[in-house]
Amino acid sequence: MRIIAQEELAPSIYRIVLYGKFDYAQARPGCFVMLKLPDGTYQLRRPLAIAALAPLQETITLIYRVVGDGTHLLQQTAVGAQLNILGPLGNGFPIENVESTENVLLVGGGTGVPPLMLLAQALKDKGCKVTTAIGFRTAALIFGEKEFEDNGQLLLATDDGSKGFQGNVGQLLATQPEQTYTKVYACGPNGLLQMVQTRFAGTTAEIYLSLESRMACGVGACEGCVVSTKDGTYNKRVCVEGPVFNGREVRL
Ligand code: FES
Repeated sequence: MRIIAQEELAPSIYRIVLYGKFDYAQARPGCFVMLKLPDGTYQLRRPLAIAALAPLQETITLIYRVVGDGTHLLQQTAVGAQLNILGPLGNGFPIENVESTENVLLVGGGTGVPPLMLLAQALKDKGCKVTTAIGFRTAALIFGEKEFEDNGQLLLATDDGSKGFQGNVGQLLATQPEQTYTKVYACGPNGLLQMVQTRFAGTTAEIYLSLESRMACGVGACEGCVVSTKDGTYNKRVCVEGPVFNGREVRL
């Protein structure tokens, strides 16, 4: 696919828009792609979540954080360059059976936020009442505000209180009036996912968690991304059976 735009959203956070052939019909919120860096020295592909899809324009949008030499190289790659993309991969958030009357909650933090952008739009399009609670370290690192506000209610937290609620997303949710959510979707570091598991365990909500896991092959071959279920009966690969799992079953 060809890079048609690349911009900085926040310090070290970039949005890249790619144009070209892609299996748009198979991609659903929570799916990811494995991106090959345009330099033969980096053999491993990078897993990046899909933040937006525009099948008619034939574009996908990815949001990534520069964390090392590989992602720095991606950030330096000029508009017009071709990138080799494998995907869409993984099982995304199950939204086929969501009803228009449902009250749903999305919870995310940091680099767990991009897949929720596509999810919020898809759930809004279904007619759901969407609330999104997201957290960042500080106001300068916030991105996606407009996208979430366009698709429902946004609850924002920053660790240092520079914008929104001061504290983490779990503390923010604790301040909210009790609500009956039919489904809770979360993406982010394990601490955030554990908070969601605990917080909604005693409710009737279906819980879906998208796990961040270091991936090597991304297609189920290396078993480097295996997680187990709470009852320990089986192991699953984040890249193939996930990255989204039933939050009442998966062991974090
Ligand atoms: Fe290789 Fe999942 S990354 S099996």
